[in-house]
Amino acid sequence: MLYNDLESMNRIIRSCTKCALFEYRKNAVCGNGSLSPEIFLIGEAPGKSEDENGIPFSGRSGQLLRKSLTLTGVSKHRIYITNSVKCRPPDNEKPKLEYMKICNGYLRYEIELLKPKVIIPLGNSSLKALTLITEVKYGNISKIVGEKFEWNGTLIFPQFHPAAILRDIKRLDKFNNVFFEIIKILKN
Ligand code: URA
Repeated sequence: MLYNDLESMNRIIRSCTKCALFEYRKNAVCGNGSLSPEIFLIGEAPGKSEDENGIPFSGRSGQLLRKSLTLTGVSKHRIYITNSVKCRPPDNEKPKLEYMKICNGYLRYEIELLKPKVIIPLGNSSLKALTLITEVKYGNISKIVGEKFEWNGTLIFPQFHPAAILRDIKRLDKFNNVFFEIIKILKN
């Protein structure tokens, strides 16, 4: 593998200048959570709060995500959360494919090292970043939430991005059901 361990990769991420996003960031945002996670969540990109404090999903989307995880019985000790790019794109733009490709080695290493049982890409950008690794075509998030895929013994559950739930709360049940389903499967 490319790095000695997660912490040495994270040190590299914090001073990374491989793509133009480093020019805009206050902090690069490294993955966070259990180091033997059953569930590995991939977000899109750090937002304003994450850029300020360096912690993934520490803003409004994170609040909603944590509420749903608690409600559905997913303990924080079982999860690891990261993003498809580790630096905030300017003006909250979606991360460009070019930047995702450059940043993808970090995500690939996190997955290879942590070997989660379940991967949850949150939203289309995260799904695209995961596709660069798994080389599986999944389709559009809104059509495939509720489906599961298998890749190298890992289950992949595409999921809405929490910001999509904040925009349309009618999706909340479907969002929560994905976590309920995962918990049921992990019990067996
Ligand atoms: N949205 C994301 O996709 N990731 C974060 O870390 C925060 C908000």
